[in-house]
Amino acid sequence: MSKPAELSPEFPSLVQQATEARLKGYAPYSNFLVGAALLTIDGRTFTGCNVENASYGLSICAERAAICQAVAHGHREFRAIVVAASPLASPCGACRQFIVEFGRDISVIACDPEDVTQVKHWTSEQLLPARFSFE
Ligand code: THU
Repeated sequence: MSKPAELSPEFPSLVQQATEARLKGYAPYSNFLVGAALLTIDGRTFTGCNVENASYGLSICAERAAICQAVAHGHREFRAIVVAASPLASPCGACRQFIVEFGRDISVIACDPEDVTQVKHWTSEQLLPARFSFE
C-alpha cells in the first residue's frame, strides 16, 4: 500500500468492511464497538470485531480477531489493517505486538466511520518500535 495509506485504492473498501465488522462487535460491558479489516499481500481481506466477556480480561480486540481469521485461512503476510471505532481508536499495546509479529511495514490506519475527517495512520514499526522478539 502506497503512502499516505488513506489515499490507496483499497482504502474505501477496507473502511467499509471494517465498518460492517464493527457493527457485529459484542461489547455489552464497554459499549465500545470496534471493527478491523486486514489486507493480505495478495489482496484478500479478513475482518474481525471485538468480543467481550463477563471475565473482562478474556475479551479480544478486533485487530487480533482479524489476524486470527487470516492466519487460520493460511495467510501470514499483510499490507494493511484498518481499525474502525467512534471515536477513533489507535490499537492497544497487545494488538501492536500482535500486528508487528507479522511485519514491521504493515500500514495501520485508524478511522471513525461516523466522522470521515478523522483518520490516522502509522506503520506497525512506528506503533511498537521496541517490540519483543526472539531475533
Ligand atoms: N478494543 C479493540 O477492539 N481494539 C483496540 O485496539 C482497543 C480496544 C476493544 C476492546 C474492548 O472490547 C473495547 O474496545 C474497549 O476497550
